Amino acid sequence: MSFSRTVAHQSRSIGRVSCPYRNSGEVIPEGLACWQPTGNRSRVLAPSIPRWQAYSASVLHGTLYVLLFLVPLAGYVRRLAGAHPVSFFGLVDMPVFIGRDEPLRLPTDTLHRGLVPTLALLMIAHIAAALKHKFIDRDGVAGRMGI
Ligand code: HEM
Repeated sequence: MSFSRTVAHQSRSIGRVSCPYRNSGEVIPEGLACWQPTGNRSRVLAPSIPRWQAYSASVLHGTLYVLLFLVPLAGYVRRLAGAHPVSFFGLVDMPVFIGRDEPLRLPTDTLHRGLVPTLALLMIAHIAAALKHKFIDRDGVAGRMGI
């Protein structure tokens, strides 16, 4: 599950803030972010957002999710197909589910290298759009992203 930051209100106790969405009125130390499950956030964008923009954003997000999954997976399979072990940031060894496989190494290498620039471009587009909403449109969309 993912979370988004929400506005925290000052409570009477000094140095603590309360998270308004929590029924218990739970307070957290001031300075810590107040996070809420994104399921509580309205998925409806402001009516001022043109339909083509809402549609493009939806396509962009979907593609980003797919690539964030596919790029590391292709790199992982390519490494295994080349008979190289893979570790998770040097902490734990990742499962080896295939042995050396030359016919698989080339396509996964091409896929990995080919998709990385697309992922990078989409990430730049995403950041640029977020900054436009924050500093030019000022329509609350950036706030939904927690910035
Ligand atoms: C989002 C995650 C990743 C990104 C953005 C990324 C990015 C890159 C980039 C920029 C290159 C160089 C491509 C080129 O020289 O044209 C590369 C190569 C490579 N990556 Fe990844 N990578 C990611 C995840 C992984 C993972 C998880 C693995 C393996 C476990 C992996 C394995 C490799 C391999 C084997 C190469 C080829 C290295 C070589 O022969 O020079 N990558 N990756």
